Order: sequence, then structure tokens, then C-alpha cells
Amino acid sequence: MREVLMSPDAAGPALHYHMIRGGSEKRNITVWESGTVGGEYIKAYGHYHVDDLPETYWIIEGEGIVLLQKLVVENGVSEPDKVEEFKVLKVKAGDEVKIPARWGHLALNTGKTWFVTADDSPLEIGDSVSMPKHADYSMVQKMRGFAYYVVEKDGAPVLVANPLYKEVGTMNFSGLPLID
Ligand SMILES: [Fe+2]
Repeated sequence: MREVLMSPDAAGPALHYHMIRGGSEKRNITVWESGTVGGEYIKAYGHYHVDDLPETYWIIEGEGIVLLQKLVVENGVSEPDKVEEFKVLKVKAGDEVKIPARWGHLALNTGKTWFVTADDSPLEIGDSVSMPKHADYSMVQKMRGFAYYVVEKDGAPVLVANPLYKEVGTMNFSGLPLID
């Protein structure tokens, strides 16, 4: 996780989230730890799907935030450091989130309890639990996370821009303040 954290050297739990993979019909379950690492809420690594594969998340327990970002495509190639559209979605138990194909996504725990989701991403033969073949983690790794980090300030989430991104087009922060 260190390579995608706002503060890579901050102390944190050995595992930030836990996954049980069942695939598109049985579903995959993810459980996030609560708390922050270097001020940043505990999050999943974040990825893009390599194919035109949408995904649905069902929030089972707790409260959190889903970040979505769509990259600029130039000459048929996604530009990892240029975001066409960025969205913040606040979610809680009972909510359902549709991730459109080609949108990078990650979720994070802003609550005091476990944050638990089910999702329908596919499980393929030979998949490792942490790095399934349908997902590309390399562009997020290269950019040290998404375009904005979600950080706790005075007990509430705020956004901090990731300076490695060259441009971010349309933004919907769902009311979260942006701080320096
Ligand atoms: Fe996914």
C-alpha cells in the first residue's frame, strides 16, 4: 500500500483491507480496517479494469467514500496523469454503486466500524487474490494514488490534491472541502 499513500512512511496496520473472492455470481467481499494512516482514511489500492467491464458494489456495513476517476484518452491510450472526470460518492450500508466501465475506482472507510462491501467483479482461472487479471493497478501505482487523497480533518473527510496529476477536468466533490 505504501506506494499509493499520501504519506508513504506513516505507520499503519499491516493489512489495510481483507478480501474473500467469490467471483461475479457468488460475489467478492472486502472488509476495510477503520482509522487513518498519516491522516488519510484507510483505503483500497484502486484500479482500472482492462476491459469494458462495469462493476457493482453493495455496501453491507459501515460508511465510506467511493472515488471514481476517468482518464483522458489520447490516440486510444489512457493518460495516467490526466483525469477527464473525478467524482466523490459518500456511501453507507444499504447503498449500491455502479462503477461504469473504464472508470478507475477505490473505496475507503470513513466510519468507526468495519466498512464492508460485496462486488461482482469476475474471478478468472489463475487469478491471485490481490491482483486479479481484469484489473490494472500499475497506473495508480505510478501516480501514487488517485487525483485526490481523502484525509481526516477535525473528524471529517476533506480532500488533498495529488500533485503528480497534470490536469483534472470535471470535478464533483459531493461537498467535501479541498485543502492544501
Ligand atoms: Fe474493480
